[in-house]
Amino acid sequence: MRRRIIVGISGASGTVYAMNLLRALVRQPLEIHLILTADGRKVAAHEIGQEGRMAYILEKHFGAVRHPESRLVEHDPDNYFAAPASGSFRHDGMVILPCSMKTLAAVASGVAGNLLTRAADICLKERRPLVLVPRESPLSQIHLENMLRVTRAGGIILPPAPGFYHRPQTIDDLVNFVVARVMDQLGINHDLLNEWGTHAPTDRGL
Ligand SMILES: Cc1cc2nc3c(=O)[nH]c(=O)nc-3n(C[C@H](O)[C@H](O)[C@H](O)COP(=O)(O)O)c2cc1C
Repeated sequence: MRRRIIVGISGASGTVYAMNLLRALVRQPLEIHLILTADGRKVAAHEIGQEGRMAYILEKHFGAVRHPESRLVEHDPDNYFAAPASGSFRHDGMVILPCSMKTLAAVASGVAGNLLTRAADICLKERRPLVLVPRESPLSQIHLENMLRVTRAGGIILPPAPGFYHRPQTIDDLVNFVVARVMDQLGINHDLLNEWGTHAPTDRGL
């Protein structure tokens, strides 16, 4: 069976993280289940200047090259009949990026008000990997407490905080630093970033 990953996009800033992640995922023989919240779709349209189906935007505007055995399924966020709404749907992990403070709060309190937060709730109860990439700054006590709650419940909080020791040259390098960390957490191979210590700076012509 193909490995299955759930990717959620909520209405926080940083759609480009999700697009770069999806571009990296569709290059592999994976089954990707995509859930955009209603506000996620609006913010994404604003930030990338494109509307419509993500599979089309990915190929047309992000130059994604699909593996012939990759599958990208886009779900209606109001459809609780969709596969990710059930614990019986086996998958290999889920990420929400970017994760708004509203979606974080919903996950932290177990309020499954749409398919995205329902799927995240299921991950926690089934003890499957759940990675949240929260985007807000600065953070209130409520945000921090919600992150701690999710961490205590088994989720992983992965802030979009790129390092600079890889000497990024472009915005894509910075974005891919975060995307690589997400893929590491989900146990998916990638070539977005060299493992630190495996390449000396001189190997990279620096
Ligand atoms: C352009 C734009 C950027 C936003 N950026 C953030 C953000 O970075 N973090 C956040 O928590 N909310 C942000 N919001 C607010 C969320 O979109 C809003 O709270 C929304 O209800 C989140 O819903 P969702 O979590 O169901 O997607 C932004 C809204 C807009 C219009």
